Amino acid sequence: MSAGDNVAGPGGARAYAIAHLPGDGVGPEVTEVARDCVDAVAVTHGFVVEWRGYPLGAKHFLATGEVLPDAVLDELRKADAILLGAVGSPEVPPGVLERGLLLRLRAELDLYVNLRPSKLRPGVPGAVSRLQPADLDFVIVRENTEGLYAGAGGTVHRGTAFESATEESLNTRAGVERCVRYAADLAARRRGRLTLVHKTNVLTHAGDLWRRVAGEVAAEAGLPLEYAHVDAACLYLVDDPKRFDVIVTDNLFGDILSDLGAALTGGLGVAPSGNLNPDRTGPSVFEPVHGSAPDIAGTGRANPAGAVLSAALMLDHLGEAEAAADLDAAVSAVLGAGAPATTAGWEDALREALDAKAGAR
Ligand code: IPM
Ligand code: MN
Repeated sequence: MSAGDNVAGPGGARAYAIAHLPGDGVGPEVTEVARDCVDAVAVTHGFVVEWRGYPLGAKHFLATGEVLPDAVLDELRKADAILLGAVGSPEVPPGVLERGLLLRLRAELDLYVNLRPSKLRPGVPGAVSRLQPADLDFVIVRENTEGLYAGAGGTVHRGTAFESATEESLNTRAGVERCVRYAADLAARRRGRLTLVHKTNVLTHAGDLWRRVAGEVAAEAGLPLEYAHVDAACLYLVDDPKRFDVIVTDNLFGDILSDLGAALTGGLGVAPSGNLNPDRTGPSVFEPVHGSAPDIAGTGRANPAGAVLSAALMLDHLGEAEAAADLDAAVSAVLGAGAPATTAGWEDALREALDAKAGAR
């Protein structure tokens, strides 16, 4: 059960050490609600959570110059999972925290899948009013350590008229294969539809590798492989999202498509993510997609749904599927009744939905 320190609960109950990185902006506000919800379902389902807090992010960087000290990374490796709020602030130059913290965690912990579910829940106004909940329930499996995020490339002749900047997309057979394998397994547990999204008509080198490997893996899994170019996939996602069940795609395409998925399902506030190490050689990182939202931080209006749904993905990954389902259902219940306008209103409504569920058991 435990990837890291084995924290045994009283009487040998299932127990998890979870690193909590509240981060910046609305991060602390939304993860506090998520934490409370996790503690509530832990009681209902008979497991114990030991939270360990780490003050990383923009505030910490500006105060100390540290982004992710090696000693902290070593501590994080010992956790069973990591719940991250959001990092970033307009005062920190772009790239410092993204590369130094988020992408470093993805690389160091081998979080090679970024799981991004998009589900239109009853009562939620999505960006396309014609779409109904039955039309939209898909998961993007985004490759999370390679592609244009690998850091390959550079700048030469900087500051001259011939300055040139390159970003190279790195795609390894092993990296593509393990990502598609995860997606195929997931599709087999869902509606059995696996769609590769790429741009094979232009990115012929990477596209060819993805297409061949995805074809092999799908055939092995006994699934048909569907394919869409990324531009067409944007159109289909708005026009006919029902055709998608599991989308597997490269890092940057997955980043972009998942924001579209968020818009279709009610906005970034409700979008969760799991940065997974499916091989469980270390902890996985769960984070709402919305970022630190400094414009609304401290106003009490942050929507904790994305954080609570990320915590649900975390519990599911830890093997607590029933507790995860309770969190997911609680978010649906609150959204269905008309989303509260404040974080505190959300907290009360979620606790009420969880209490009702626990009482009904
Ligand atoms: C996301 C974010 C990150 C990404 C940034 C902040 C590095 O946009 O998780 O989608 O591009 O992966
Ligand atoms: Mn993004």
